[in-house]
Amino acid sequence: MIIALLNQKGGVGKTTLATHIAGELALRGKTVILLDADPQGSALDWTQRRAQRGLPRLFGAVGLARETLHQEAPQLAQRADHVIIDGPPRIAALARSALMAADRVLIPVQPSPFDLWASAEMVSLLQEAQVFKPALRAAFAINRRVSTTIIGREVRQALADQPLPALHAEVRQRIVFADSAAGGQLACELAPDSAASREVSCLVDELLGWET
Ligand SMILES: Nc1ncnc2c1ncn2[C@@H]1O[C@H](COP(=O)(O)OP(=O)(O)O)[C@@H](O)[C@H]1O
Ligand SMILES: [Mg+2]
Repeated sequence: MIIALLNQKGGVGKTTLATHIAGELALRGKTVILLDADPQGSALDWTQRRAQRGLPRLFGAVGLARETLHQEAPQLAQRADHVIIDGPPRIAALARSALMAADRVLIPVQPSPFDLWASAEMVSLLQEAQVFKPALRAAFAINRRVSTTIIGREVRQALADQPLPALHAEVRQRIVFADSAAGGQLACELAPDSAASREVSCLVDELLGWET
């Protein structure tokens, strides 16, 4: 199963969710390969920070920010239970290639109308891909929700008008995500019983349920 985290907009949480989903699956005993499709290589940087600090290796990581990635991904998928693609910002050709490789797509969005508008381009790329791949399933994943804001509640209504579903699981704005990233860690390693760690676990449960 190849799961891609995609959104043309930067800073929405593609890398954060990709590393956490990969890490959570690995901690559950799955073999996972994280495919970094962003030329900036931030997911690879994360694994390097981890290695430099002597933390255990959770999953393999490969940098593959090229338009032939859909030709190479299936070979990786044969060697792992899950391949998680951390998508690039902006570059439509790379996003298309990731869409061609993927079985499942998650589009992280921050709860603001502006972010939903910015995701429109991603939604049209996705719909384009679904013409050729009707089995390609996709959903929004709400990230960085600030619990007290009205906008956080309204985002569900705004998402209801979109042509894609949204996962029930949400990840809130939590400092532990930024702190753990800086040290090449997962939120559940830095703060084992935290709300952040439970949110990741729920998101992965929903993703796995989705596969059947
Ligand atoms: N749920 C969250 N809570 C707090 N900070 C977050 C959260 N998700 C992402 N971030 C922070 O936001 C920034 C952008 O996230 P990132 O995953 O790099 O986005 P992208 O890969 O889409 O560009 C990073 O500094 C990251 O640590
Ligand atoms: Mg990123």
